[in-house]
This record gives sequence, C-alpha cells and structure tokens, in this order.
Amino acid sequence: MTTILNGKELAKKLRVKVKAEVEALTSNGERPPHLAAILVGEDGASKTYVNSKERDCEFVGFNSTVHRLPADTSEQDLLDLIQSINTNDDIDGLIVQLPLPKHMDSEKITEAINPEIDVDGFHTISVGKLTKGEDTFISATPFGIIMTLEDYGIDTVGKHCVVIGRSNIVGRPMSILMSRNGYPGNATVTICHSRTQNLKGFTLQADIVIAALGIPDFLKADMVKEGAVVIDVGITRVDADNPKGYILKGDVDYEAVKDKASAITPVPGGVGPMTRYGLLFNTLKSYKMKRGK
Ligand code: GUN
Repeated sequence: MTTILNGKELAKKLRVKVKAEVEALTSNGERPPHLAAILVGEDGASKTYVNSKERDCEFVGFNSTVHRLPADTSEQDLLDLIQSINTNDDIDGLIVQLPLPKHMDSEKITEAINPEIDVDGFHTISVGKLTKGEDTFISATPFGIIMTLEDYGIDTVGKHCVVIGRSNIVGRPMSILMSRNGYPGNATVTICHSRTQNLKGFTLQADIVIAALGIPDFLKADMVKEGAVVIDVGITRVDADNPKGYILKGDVDYEAVKDKASAITPVPGGVGPMTRYGLLFNTLKSYKMKRGK
C-alpha cells in the first residue's frame, strides 16, 4: 500500500493551529503578525502564488500587504521599497517574489532584505545559519518537505536520500537538512544535477528521492527502487485544453511511480500547500522572536 503524502490536508491542519496561536497571541489586543510581499511584473504563476499567500494570511489572521509593481520598476525603486519595509517595525516578514524581471539583479535584491524578516530564508545569513545548523528561517519548500516527512513519521536515519536539483531555493538546502544531525535528517545524501552521469544509477539506490529539477514527468518508474519514498517538488504549467489553459505537472511520473513507492507526494496537493505553510510558520516565528517568545 502506498501512502499518499497529502500536503493539502496536512497544511490545512497546520494552518488551523497557526490561526489558534494567532488568536491567543493577539487576545491581549496586540497586533497580529504581518507579512509583506513584493511582486514585480505580470508573471502568471507568480501572481497566483502571491494571491495564495495573501489568502493564507487572511485565513490565519495575519495582516498582509502586497506591493504589486510594474515590470519596468527600476532596481533602485525596489531597493528603496525594501529598505522602507526593513525599517518598519510593524512588519515581521518580507518576501520578494521570484523570478524578477531580467533588468534586476535577484542576488542584490535578496541581500537587501533585513535577515531578521527574511521569511523566505534566501539571504546569505539565513543560508549560512542553516548550513551551520543554527536556528534560522528555513526556506519554505525545504521546510514544508521536512514537516511532511516528520508528520508522516518517515524514517530518514541512515537512509540514502537522493536530491535531484541543486537550486539555492530547494535542492541545496534540502541536502543540508537531510544530512543534519536531527530528525528528519541523519540521511546519507547524494545531490544530483544536470551534469550528473548515470543519474538512474543513483536514483535506483535511493530510499528517499526528492525531485526538484522542474522537468515534468522526469522521474520514471524504472528509475525508482521498490518501496522508495518519493517527494515531488516540481510544479510546471503545461498547456492543456481546459478553461485555465494549463495543468500543473510534477517532476515525477506519478501514476507509474506511485505503485512502486512506499510513500509519494501528489502534484498538486503535495509539496505546494506545505510550502505555503512554511511561509506562515516563518512569519509567526519572526513575530514571536521580536517579542522574545
Ligand atoms: N518563486 C518561486 N518560489 C518562491 C519562493 O518560495 N519565494 C519567493 N520569494 N519566490 C519564489
């Protein structure tokens, strides 16, 4: 029997907990946590993500502010806005939705965010702390995956975890978390990427596969060991003849792989909702840290 790692249901359960915690924290009249998001341009997927984040904030009782800026906004104007948010004590978390328009240097923008409100966990200070095993904001997708493994009690100790993809947002932090001395963690980690030779040779050895490369249906059943745990981070829009004009596809050939896996995340409804929860968790964490809680 394959366990479907239902991120949608888990995220719902965890959001309800956050909502209750916000109610308790604000019962004395204190303001609720506040997440600010900046969206530059008209990228369809980014707009959808930001709208979802706004809805999540509303559900749990956070304040949220979304700055929707035109695609031709200058880098300096964006930096000025970030600076004004950095110094606003009423804001606990700031995210700048990626990707940014081509004329902007994403690295420079990410580094301009005050690490104390870097709830995406993308700043060098956040990444450095994560790497050293210090308490920090763990970026939302790796955090969501860790929470899923934990909630479903997936055994990771001494297991071989193969991470496909070396992005700063998912693959690299995921590899660090899975190898840390803690739970979930203590796995033996292999990180594979576009230049890996004989990738199938690695994935076939994996007890846990985390696919985060952004190629729909990439991981086929013949690349997966019987009984493996399969985590699908992919969420690519593929053209389809439906009212939306697209469907969402993961990196895993789900229908074929699910019969071989002992546990698997679906797309949609797996990692995606847990990523959104990660952001709420980090914003609440920032809020509590500011208050010494
Ligand atoms: N673009 C895709 N995923 C993310 C994310 O987690 N945070 C931000 N800021 N941009 C993204």
